Amino acid sequence: MPGIDAQKRKKLSGYDFYREVLGSPKYVVAPMVDQSELAWRRLSRRYGAQLVYTPMINAKMFADGIRTKYRQVNFDIENGEEGGPEDRPLIVQFAANDPEKLLIAAKLVQPHCDAVDINLGCPQDIARRGHYGSYLQEEWDLIYKLINILHRELDVPVTAKFRVFPTVEKTVEYAKMLESAGAQILTCHGRTRDQRGSKTGLADWDKIRAVKQAVSVPVFANGNILFYSDIEKCLEATGADAIMSAEGNLYNPAVFSPPPSQSDSSSSTWNLISPTGLHPPHTELAMEYLIIVKQQKTATSLSAVKGHLFKLMRPALVRETDLRDQLGRVRSEKGKENDVWEKYEGIVNAMHERMLRDAKAAEGQTSEQLIKIDPATGLEILPHWLAQPYFRPAAVMKEATEKADEISTKAVEALVAHSHEELEHQQEPSCGIEDSEESISPSKRTLSDRTPEPDELAKKAKLDSDLIPATS
Ligand SMILES: Cc1cc2nc3c(=O)[nH]c(=O)nc-3n(C[C@H](O)[C@H](O)[C@H](O)COP(=O)(O)O)c2cc1C
Repeated sequence: MPGIDAQKRKKLSGYDFYREVLGSPKYVVAPMVDQSELAWRRLSRRYGAQLVYTPMINAKMFADGIRTKYRQVNFDIENGEEGGPEDRPLIVQFAANDPEKLLIAAKLVQPHCDAVDINLGCPQDIARRGHYGSYLQEEWDLIYKLINILHRELDVPVTAKFRVFPTVEKTVEYAKMLESAGAQILTCHGRTRDQRGSKTGLADWDKIRAVKQAVSVPVFANGNILFYSDIEKCLEATGADAIMSAEGNLYNPAVFSPPPSQSDSSSSTWNLISPTGLHPPHTELAMEYLIIVKQQKTATSLSAVKGHLFKLMRPALVRETDLRDQLGRVRSEKGKENDVWEKYEGIVNAMHERMLRDAKAAEGQTSEQLIKIDPATGLEILPHWLAQPYFRPAAVMKEATEKADEISTKAVEALVAHSHEELEHQQEPSCGIEDSEESISPSKRTLSDRTPEPDELAKKAKLDSDLIPATS
């Protein structure tokens, strides 16, 4: 198995590391706060992911010896599952602005991963206040030091994930600096720091291509992968060694699986074959995910599970609004923590029955009749019982989206600020929290659909109380 023997080998660099330790992965799951947790990594690997990143971890808090709970919640070494044989190859990502603290944190995880990544891309206001992610983009000396200390002192390679600058020249100059500091893989997210929320827009593959041509280390392309069929297009357009997917993977963890052959005898309205890739029924994926969560020893946060179920079942939740409301209301009650699984399973099972009903009602229709084309984007819309990507709202919805984003961003920030107070004014890392709740179309969703509930964040702030003990 690629990855697991990394520590026994001598420290390799660049392409030697990419090939011999990582096994030349092409399909990479992105670091995602509260979403690329162990259970999701396991599910994604079953469906074709060849390399996975952990969610971003705050290096300062992880390094702090008193905060053992923070360590356990963010990378549970003791259970032996995170970074264990079934969780490799694995790259652990940190957010940091202090080289010494970063080194302490990285040394703790290096026996359990294949490389350590530095987050230079988080664009959110919380990253600006915490002074990390893309808000380090102007401080090249500091970035150099962060990468270089790990390059010199760690037994495993250091890698970096960054956003592009508005110009290709600056982007290339920056990428070369990251390489010269010692980064052994560069992940280039083809969006600028300003491209977030309703301004997300398209990633610029030309800039990724320019980076790939300018450096000698492997480059992962990030951005714009909605369907399996986009992967080859991206690899060809950018020349990158691999593609990294975040949202595409969250809405369809099988985004890295090719479509079954058209002659596949299991083809039916329920398992409809699309040329764009494998799109399993989302309730089956949700059930599989819940089984993984329940069976592993490592605890999964309630907010992670809820976030995944919202995204997976999104095509159906916009129609089955009673189940959407039920899902939004699921809470863990003190002393009855395990009941929460029954609630989730109950909702997924109820949705499953409704989806089977709808697929049965559609029997006799051809895939041409069942697969529609979105007039705004020209992209495929599959039947609502199948896992599929979420397209960001088109221009006509921009205004509504901006209003919704404004409200929710403020709400999220207020709540996160509250959680920070509880953390004795230390920054809790949070990248993608705005995006992570974008599971329901802004015009249709309520605030509670897309922002973490106050009690969830307050619990998160205590860092231990939103963990559901695993049942086995
Ligand atoms: C829910 C969520 C959480 C994220 N958390 C992180 C993170 O922890 N670290 C990071 O570098 N990027 C994070 N991102 C950004 C993604 O890794 C990725 O760069 C971005 O979503 C663009 O990729 P995509 O177009 O495939 O979604 C997050 C994105 C989402 C949607």
